[in-house]
Amino acid sequence: MDNFDVAKIRKDFPELERTVHEKPLIYLDNAASTLKCTPVIEALNLHYSHEAANIHRGVHYLSEMGTVKYEETRKCIQKLINSENDYQVIFTKGTTESLNLIASTYARKFLKKGDQILLSTLEHHSNIVPWQMVAEEVGAEVVEIPVNDLGEIDQDAYKNLLNDRVAIVSTNHISNSLGTINPIKEMIKLAHEAGAIYVVDAAQSISHEKIDVQDLDCDFLAFSSHKMFGPTGVGVLYGKEELLNKMPPYQGGGDMIDVVTFEKTTYNGLPHKFEAGTPHIAGVIALKAAVDYIQSIGLNKIKAWEHELLEYATKKLSEIEGLTIIGTAKEKTSVISFTIDGAHPHDIGTLLDRQGIAVRTGHHCTQPLMKRFNIPATTRASFSVYNTKEEVDALVAGIIKTKEFL
Ligand code: ALA
Repeated sequence: MDNFDVAKIRKDFPELERTVHEKPLIYLDNAASTLKCTPVIEALNLHYSHEAANIHRGVHYLSEMGTVKYEETRKCIQKLINSENDYQVIFTKGTTESLNLIASTYARKFLKKGDQILLSTLEHHSNIVPWQMVAEEVGAEVVEIPVNDLGEIDQDAYKNLLNDRVAIVSTNHISNSLGTINPIKEMIKLAHEAGAIYVVDAAQSISHEKIDVQDLDCDFLAFSSHKMFGPTGVGVLYGKEELLNKMPPYQGGGDMIDVVTFEKTTYNGLPHKFEAGTPHIAGVIALKAAVDYIQSIGLNKIKAWEHELLEYATKKLSEIEGLTIIGTAKEKTSVISFTIDGAHPHDIGTLLDRQGIAVRTGHHCTQPLMKRFNIPATTRASFSVYNTKEEVDALVAGIIKTKEFL
């Protein structure tokens, strides 16, 4: 790709300078968590070394400054996802907590016995289990939307499953295991026509795709900071104002209240109603540095480079005898899951690690998807903006070496 200086970008990620088992680190586990860029590390360092104090509570200088910075991130996320208002952006611990929040508040309050929740086979356990927990409690039913052999959601099956019992549809935007990009805009429209709300798990898409919640018209959207070069322990839940307002609080504690008496407690407005207790202040502040960093490169450029890596890696990996790519959707992001005849993914992962190459192996928290493809696990290489074609070549050489060894 012309005018894309990957060498310059790599300098922004200090971890890329390290070695693992005396080999240069080749980090291909970006779908699990990305590396952190210098502006994020500096923002965390600045907060803890000069600006640490609690927020929303004090009249003193540091508390007020912390509050301003924390709320600046909220505004930054509002702009990033084009939310109608900043108070529709709720900070959580991560995508998992965001999804649990919806299940524990909205679903627990509004689902009725006999209602259905549609989830696709592609879902991460965090977009299955919270729904199963609440469904069991209220007598609702979780229904699976199947995927085809390419790892795409079967759109005909989806249409057939929509009926007036469906109250919630929840899917990811991009599959963490296969990289499939789902046509969520069309799927959301269909869900609304059937009278259901739509929850989007955007954990894998937030740093790869432009997200506009108003254009998508999703009811809720969840993502994590740590998959977009930001700190761990910080996530976002976006919700439509009308829905957030009628939901009960998630956790009780400081900040989420209006007036507390032993007789009755009234609750704070949005977003504080859902942010009980002291949050990950430094993490939220540093998340803005991550968003600024992404925007300084440009999402389109990031996407184009990752796509080039995906195409290059798909071609090179396909040439390896005995290697099967699992997930060959027409619309894919930079994730390649594969199996190798006669070799267990854990052994492949361990031997690649000895060569300095970090990949993820296992079921990727998507056991139903593994079952669908009749495999226990895959090896997954997932690429980010700082990866190179030379690293793809090293992965290919590493796999060939591993195959010979096994
Ligand atoms: N959901 C993360 C992954 O896919 C942890 O690896």
